[in-house]
Amino acid sequence: MASVPSLASNVQQRLADALSAALPEAGPADPLLRRSDRADFQANGILALAKKLKGNPRELAAKVVESIPANDVLKEIEVSGPGFLNITLTDQAIVETLAARAADERLGVPYAENAGTTVIDYAQPNVAKEMHVGHLRSAVIGAAMVEILEFTGEKVIRRHHIGDWGTQFGMLIQYLIEHPHELDHQRDGEVSGEEAMSSLNRLYKASRALFDSDEEFKARSRDRVVALQSGEPETLALWQRFVDESKIYFYSVFDKLDMEIHDPDVVGESGYNEMLDDTCRLLEESGVAVRSEGALCVFFDDVKGPDGNPTPLIVKKSNGGYGYAATDLSAIRDRVQILGADTLVYVVDARQALHFKMVFETARRAGWLNDEVKAVQLAFGTVLGADGKPFKTREGETVRLVDLLDEAVQHATGVVREKDARKELTEAEIAERGEQVGIGAIKYADLSTSAVRDYRFDLDQMVSLNGDTSVYLQYAYARIQSIKRKAGDVRPAAHPELPLAPAERALGLHLDRFAETVAEVAEAYEPHKLAAYLYQLASHLTKFYDQCQVLSADNPAEVVENRLFLIDLTARTLHQGMALLGIRTPERL
Ligand code: ARG
Repeated sequence: MASVPSLASNVQQRLADALSAALPEAGPADPLLRRSDRADFQANGILALAKKLKGNPRELAAKVVESIPANDVLKEIEVSGPGFLNITLTDQAIVETLAARAADERLGVPYAENAGTTVIDYAQPNVAKEMHVGHLRSAVIGAAMVEILEFTGEKVIRRHHIGDWGTQFGMLIQYLIEHPHELDHQRDGEVSGEEAMSSLNRLYKASRALFDSDEEFKARSRDRVVALQSGEPETLALWQRFVDESKIYFYSVFDKLDMEIHDPDVVGESGYNEMLDDTCRLLEESGVAVRSEGALCVFFDDVKGPDGNPTPLIVKKSNGGYGYAATDLSAIRDRVQILGADTLVYVVDARQALHFKMVFETARRAGWLNDEVKAVQLAFGTVLGADGKPFKTREGETVRLVDLLDEAVQHATGVVREKDARKELTEAEIAERGEQVGIGAIKYADLSTSAVRDYRFDLDQMVSLNGDTSVYLQYAYARIQSIKRKAGDVRPAAHPELPLAPAERALGLHLDRFAETVAEVAEAYEPHKLAAYLYQLASHLTKFYDQCQVLSADNPAEVVENRLFLIDLTARTLHQGMALLGIRTPERL
């Protein structure tokens, strides 16, 4: 379908044309259009131009205004201050543009001109370990970026780089060999995620305790690592059991999060085993990596330890083992050379920033990354408790992600029940809404602050009906649906001939900014700007309700239709925007 140019770009074009018509000697000039509180837009570009032409800016401004041909988009252009233009649009232009958006199922949002292929690395928990809030952030932010990028036409390949390899598996597998029934389940049939995790947890703790106390077990575990690395079939099969069991758990959590994770996209650390040797060879042959104290290392001028000595990236340890860096470097080769990516995005904790800085720089020196192929870490901050300290249970343990999600859903269910004062919802509906509101609240709280900042996990605040929360947005959506149901046979219809009330104009102008917001958010990997946009949209809607009745008997039929049209487009924009953030918008709340 057709993309719809925004009012801003329409005005920008008209002013640019007027500038070159009035001042041909200046060459093509940018009118520097900004949103403004005094009018719909302000153009500041004439000041710089006047300076360049050594003219009087107010006179030049007047000349530019004169050279704008008669049209029905610009209602008023006022020269103000030292030579700004204050621009007010016609109501007709606003409604016509919105009507064009409404006619398009993509709301007039264009596909990006420079769309390419992005591999996005997100939602990467570790095998045999409980998921924590850090994994939540990666999953939520990553999933939103996948949706946003795909919406702009980008080809997106998902990669869940799970921690499924490393020396700890020697210990786990050895323990399982010596206690063969530890991963068996009590009953037959399908194992729940919860059960899978709890037996893994038990086994992890028991094997760790033995490993720390029994030197002989430690030695057997080390031998087991060697067997695993050499691909000994029995050892590999047991390793696979840990992976499969963990996946049951991961998928149950992602399911709770209302998030689709596809098995073929789960390519963990082990998925790059075959490439590790080659990666090291290429780095060594090209001189990017050098031997140092037996290890294969990459050095950086600006990365030094506390003692002032350079801290290298260790690609291969002196004992011949490969670590996190070798895997990530191999993954880059795979993603660029096999998957054909031109952008790699890593949604990973900010505390791993140094690792990625060194990995990316190494890949650049090796030529795997370059001007055409870039890598970025979409780094996120730490989740803090309501007290502002890193999020822990009262006992000082890491909070289990599932407990947190369950608590949010429970809390939200209470809110939904309370709000349903007239008892219109069935129990099943309350439960379903509770999930949509609770999970939405968690996602929104995460997505509405800039990713790199730490944020406080405060459930009461997250499911509050007032303020910058997903529930507020979900209610805004549901309220529109309720009005539409009450309107019965009266259909939304745009009437560009009608004058708009100030609250209608403000809502309309904001609706028109959706496309440019999506483009910005996709470009800069900043989903919080989409959340902010949607919150402002809901706020404009609230003001609109205060000032404009939709279904009043006093309204002429066209006014009712036009207002229904405005709120309907608002609902569709909210729905689309929330879907991009991975949040449901129930029809009734
Ligand atoms: N599994 C890691 C963790 O839990 C995150 C992996 C990030 N992705 C990567 N390609 N290194 O911290």
